[in-house]
Amino acid sequence: MDEYFVKLNTVSKCVPALKSLIPMLEYKLVYGQNNAANLNEEVLKNDEKIYGLIKRFNVDKESKISIFKVTPNSCYNWHTDGIRCAAINMLLIGYNSMALMGQKDVIFFRNVEQVPYEPNRYVMINTSVSHSVYNFAEDRYLLSLGIPMEFSYQEVANYIKENEL
Ligand SMILES: [Fe+2]
Repeated sequence: MDEYFVKLNTVSKCVPALKSLIPMLEYKLVYGQNNAANLNEEVLKNDEKIYGLIKRFNVDKESKISIFKVTPNSCYNWHTDGIRCAAINMLLIGYNSMALMGQKDVIFFRNVEQVPYEPNRYVMINTSVSHSVYNFAEDRYLLSLGIPMEFSYQEVANYIKENEL
């Protein structure tokens, strides 16, 4: 298993519905640093295996299903997530952007890799590894399912493998 991310094989059937929701949602600052809108898990019901994962890992509790918005020509600075051990993400709009992961060494980051987002595909990232987002041409919208800290990245990675997600 890669310590940074796991690419899922699941091809999402929910992207048109998610994209149609994007302009209707209200994006609020969370943790003072990210524009986020919360979603109900029902919007992902057609991705049956993802829906099963949501229920298995309590992702639907405390509104952990979000769309994160990053405005153009901006950087979401290097950080780790304190409140979730992993995130299962799908980039919906804004491919002129880079999500990077790496290991912090004072002000230098080593072993930097780009998260391999592809249309209609989910990627799980290890949010305890430092990560950042650089966005350019347009508003960037990312679906993000936060896995609560009571679980571990390894546990979710095993579930994904065993259930062929
Ligand atoms: Fe993050």
